[in-house]
Order: sequence, then structure tokens, then C-alpha cells
Amino acid sequence: MILAAGEGTRMRSSVPKVLHELCGVPLILRVLNTVRELKPVSIGVIVGHGGKEVIDRLKGSAADVDFLWQKAQKGSGHAVKTAAPWLKKSLKISPNVMVLCADTPLVRSKTLKSLFDTHCIGKNGATILTADFSNPFGYGRIKRDSGRRVEGIVEEKDAGPEERNIKEVNSGIYFFDTGKLLDAIPLIRNDNAKKEYYLTDVVGLFYGRNVPVETLRMSEEDALVDNMGVNSRVDLALAESILQKEITERWMREGVTILNPASVYIGENVAIGRDAVILPGTMLLGQTAIGERSVIGPNSYVEDSKIGENALVRASYVFGSVVGNYVLIGPFSHLRKGNVVRDGAKIGNFCEIKNSAIGKKTKVPHLSYVGDSALGENVNVGAGTITCNYDGKLKHKTVVGSGVFIGSNVNLVAPVKIGAGAVLGAGSTITNDVPPGALALERSGQVVKKGWAKNRAVKAEIKNEKPARRVCGG
Ligand code: UD1
Ligand code: MG
Repeated sequence: MILAAGEGTRMRSSVPKVLHELCGVPLILRVLNTVRELKPVSIGVIVGHGGKEVIDRLKGSAADVDFLWQKAQKGSGHAVKTAAPWLKKSLKISPNVMVLCADTPLVRSKTLKSLFDTHCIGKNGATILTADFSNPFGYGRIKRDSGRRVEGIVEEKDAGPEERNIKEVNSGIYFFDTGKLLDAIPLIRNDNAKKEYYLTDVVGLFYGRNVPVETLRMSEEDALVDNMGVNSRVDLALAESILQKEITERWMREGVTILNPASVYIGENVAIGRDAVILPGTMLLGQTAIGERSVIGPNSYVEDSKIGENALVRASYVFGSVVGNYVLIGPFSHLRKGNVVRDGAKIGNFCEIKNSAIGKKTKVPHLSYVGDSALGENVNVGAGTITCNYDGKLKHKTVVGSGVFIGSNVNLVAPVKIGAGAVLGAGSTITNDVPPGALALERSGQVVKKGWAKNRAVKAEIKNEKPARRVCGG
């Protein structure tokens, strides 16, 4: 049972807390996925605040989830109480229930498994995951009697000075004997500082009835991950940095060089080949794969793309594209969705490429827009060349054969086909197809007037005009 009905006031957000994302995945979905690793017989998620949004967001990835509504949020104990009918039903297939919160997104399944083992071995009424924190502020404290038996949990706001000194804290993750939990839940009262029904009060009730309660005590190091509760954006950033540290360290151990790991951001589904180098300021997201020995960055952004081996992506954006081996991209280029850039090609600086195939060893070195195009092999695209793919209503295709030489500042008005080996003169606006091997030139002839400039200078002198002042030697 995952508790996810709370408001999450400290996030100061119009988005429900559990939908805030960590490495692109909502907090609740992370917890859900971890829980699934234990193969539970059923999963209940308690929703309330922003519940409709939560259910909508999880649609498609929650076929195995029963959403249970807690209309008014009167505390974690009240949340479990509203789910009593579901718990009774679950009792028919399993005697135990794990209760955890949707705001502890880093909890690991191995920790949950150990907790389950402890619970089953001891035949406990409740088994609580706890940790010793040097700074336990904000957490419920585990109270033990003289025989070290757990006698209750006291919340921060209700704790006296002595209780506040207790270092052992409640992680908010428990296994319960479902029957015993159902017996105790109606007895919880809300006579506390928050006027809430605390789930944690079940523990005190169990102690009074001699129901065995045990703890699984984590090391502080483990607890910093498993117990990392996200209550504010500061917590969210901390959780993100814990996750990123884990991801970057994993890739470095796999043979990837990462310069200043704290400055890069790598998604969980990214794959990186050996001896690749990830330079500062780089983000690799979505279903991205980077080939061996490729250098990405500094300051590159690659999403849902495959980059081949020995490629170079410098200070550029690449979305939804497949990039071959030995390809050079950037600095300062933008590959939008749907490109295939073949081996040895070059997309230089200040280029935008969209939905295009760029052939082997083809070069688009400077200041070009190539959209909805297919360029063959060994094409040279001159600086400033633009494919005019849009007529205001529809997009049209430009097809350029292999070995074509395009001079600088050419406009290719699509739909248009340039045959293999053709040459397009600089400054031409090409509106008709060009046959293979031809020269196409579309511009006015140049006018040359000999001595004209000198005559102009003489005229200016006669008029006593001063030549325009030069600025910065330009
Ligand atoms: C809770 C525990 C505390 C523990 C801490 C660990 C209680 C009373 N206290 O405190 O001992 O140290 O977690 O992180 O449980 N929720 C509902 N409905 C409600 C209220 C809360 O579903 O009416 C859900 C929240 O969405 C959240 C969880 O219960 O996922 C815990 O609530 P929260 O307010 O975060 O409790 P904490 O103060 O963190
Ligand atoms: Mg909390």
C-alpha cells in the first residue's frame, strides 16, 4: 500500500508532490516500479490531494494498481483506515501488507526484501525500517523500553526534549500483519500536535497488546538513499544529485571518462560505450546511446538519439536522430527530430537539420538549414545554403544526389531534385530540377565599371564631403 494522498505543502506547487519528477520519472512511479520488483499480489495506492491528476498521469503504467480514495487527508493512519475494505479483501490472498510512502523515491527493492524477510522470520505484527541519524529532525523517533523492545513512535511535533534526542528514526516503511493492523486502526486517536490520525500510533497499540514489533536498522549510509524523503524542492535536488552520482559513477566504472561529473546529467536509460568522453555541461536524456570513443560536449544536449563511434558532438542539440561513426557536429548546431547522419559526415557550426538524411562524408559546415531533405554521399553544402521546404501550407522534399557541389548562399526551393555530380553556383535560387553533372546558375550577371570608384572619390572632394568616419577600424 503506497500512501500518496498528502498535499505536499512544502513543495509550494500546483503539481501534486508525488508527480514531481526525479530524472524524468514521477516520484510515485519510481516507488511503484521498485515495489513491483517484489512481485506483490496486489498494489493499492491511496490518492487524495490531486488524486485525479495522479491517476491520469499513471494511466498506461498502472494496470496492476488499485487506486483508493482518501477524500479528506486526516493523517497516515486515517489513510490506511479508508483503505480497510481493500485490506480485508487482500487478506484473502496474503496475510501481510507493506505500507510505504510515495515520497521516498530512492528506496531500493533489496532493502524492502530484507524488511520482508525480517518480518516473516519473526512472525511480527509490525516490522519497521529504521535508521540512526545524527540529525533526526523532522522524523518520527523510535521509542524503546528498558529491554530495548519497541514501545512506540513519537512524532517530532509531539516529542519532548528527551525524545527529541533519540537518534533512531522511522523511515515510514513497514510490514504489518494485515489482520492485526485492521484490529488496531480503529483505535487510533487524533489527540496530538497535528490533530491527525498517525499510522505510527499502531506501534504503541501493538506494544500494549504484546504483539511483536521488530525493526530493521539501516546504516546511515544506506538510509541516506533508502530513506531519502522528498518534502521540498531542496530535497528533490538532493535526491537528484544522489541519483546522478550513482549513474555517473556507474558509467565511469564501465570505462567512460566524465570530466567534472557534477556538471553533467545522464538519464537512466542512456547507454555509453567505452572510452567515450562526456565533457562538462552535457545532458544525455531519454533513449540515447553514445558509441565508443565519441566525445560529447562541452555543453551538448542529446535526447532519444543514437550517436555512433568516434563521433564528436560539441555544444550542440540533438533530438531523435541517428548519427553515424566519425561524424562531427557543432559547435552550435541543432539536429531536430528524424535525421540520419551517415558515417564521416560533418554538420558544422550554426546549422539546423530536420527530418533529413545526410549521406556518408557529406559536409554541411556552416550556417545552413536542411529540412525534409535527402543528401547523397560526398555532397558539399556551401555556407548559408537553405532548403526552402515550406510553402506556407505544406512541406516539400529536397533530394540532392551524391557528389553535388553547392556553392555558398544557395536557396533550394522544394520540391526539387539535384542530380548526382551537379554544381550549383553560389547565390543561386534553384527552383527547377537539375540534371546529373550539370552546372546550374541563377543570378544576375556582374557589372564592372572600370575606374568608377576613383571618379566617385574625386566627386566627393569637389563637394568637400568628408568620408564617413570609421569605427573600431572596421
Ligand atoms: C511520516 C511518519 C514519520 C516518519 C516519516 C518518514 C506518520 C505520522 N509519520 O512523517 O514517523 O519518520 O513519515 O518520512 O506517518 N498521507 C496520506 N494521507 C494523509 C496524510 C499523509 O496519504 O492524510 C501520505 C503522504 O502523501 C505521504 C505519507 O502519507 O506519502 C506520509 O505523510 P507525511 O505528511 O509526509 O508524513 P511525515 O511528516 O513525513
Ligand atoms: Mg513525508
